[in-house]
Amino acid sequence: MKAPALVVALDFVEAAPALDLASRLRGIVPWVKVGLELFLAAGKELPARLKDMGFHVFLDLKFMDIPNTVRAAVAQGTRMGADMLTIHALGGRVMCEAAVAGRDQALSPGQPSPLILGVTVLTSMGAGDLAWNPGGVDQDVRDLAVDLARSAKNWKLDGVVCSGREVSVIRQACGADFRLLTPGIRLPDADAGDQTRVCTPAQAARDGSDFLVVGRPITRAADPVNAARMYLEATG
Ligand code: C5P
Repeated sequence: MKAPALVVALDFVEAAPALDLASRLRGIVPWVKVGLELFLAAGKELPARLKDMGFHVFLDLKFMDIPNTVRAAVAQGTRMGADMLTIHALGGRVMCEAAVAGRDQALSPGQPSPLILGVTVLTSMGAGDLAWNPGGVDQDVRDLAVDLARSAKNWKLDGVVCSGREVSVIRQACGADFRLLTPGIRLPDADAGDQTRVCTPAQAARDGSDFLVVGRPITRAADPVNAARMYLEATG
């Protein structure tokens, strides 16, 4: 089985520390993530700068809005050169299909198609967080994640974001070609922070995850390059 690719989440609120860390991780880590706080701080030039440095860029803005808006937003992300984008699978069929159409319409000739992944259930959420469920049914988080993944596949998304704890069951349900990206990754002795459904890199790799997203255990480490190497080593 292929080792998953490591994605370092550059969760900074300014461009300078993000670029500084990226320059140190260049050639070591293949992917970086630009999330909401960094994108809002640094703007749309940053993905291009990171790509110029040789990284694949994961633009994790988790769109969820009416289909027309999501179609336009995904088109913009595609034109920006993102290699992977996220939307919320909870946005439903029409929204997910609009996202795929927006991507396909915006591709320039020869441009590799960015992957569109659907967020299933945030890895920070546990069972109690689903209490809003209509009818008061406290649906199992894992069942909900699997249902959303199956739907995302039917709606032509390339894969989903899920916790490492759901990788093997979603892999079984959705097949070998469906891309699984897992945040909430922690080495056995690391602090979970606000994450609930955490998983070790070794476990996520064994179960067949394609991408592991690691933020604070690397960005806040005293030696981030060494921490990145430890996570790379743990994924095999
Ligand atoms: O610092 P930590 O390793 O917990 O960061 C995890 C990263 O993965 C964050 O950038 C967060 O936005 C992202 N993420 C997540 N859960 C999801 C989707 C993305 O934690 N379902």
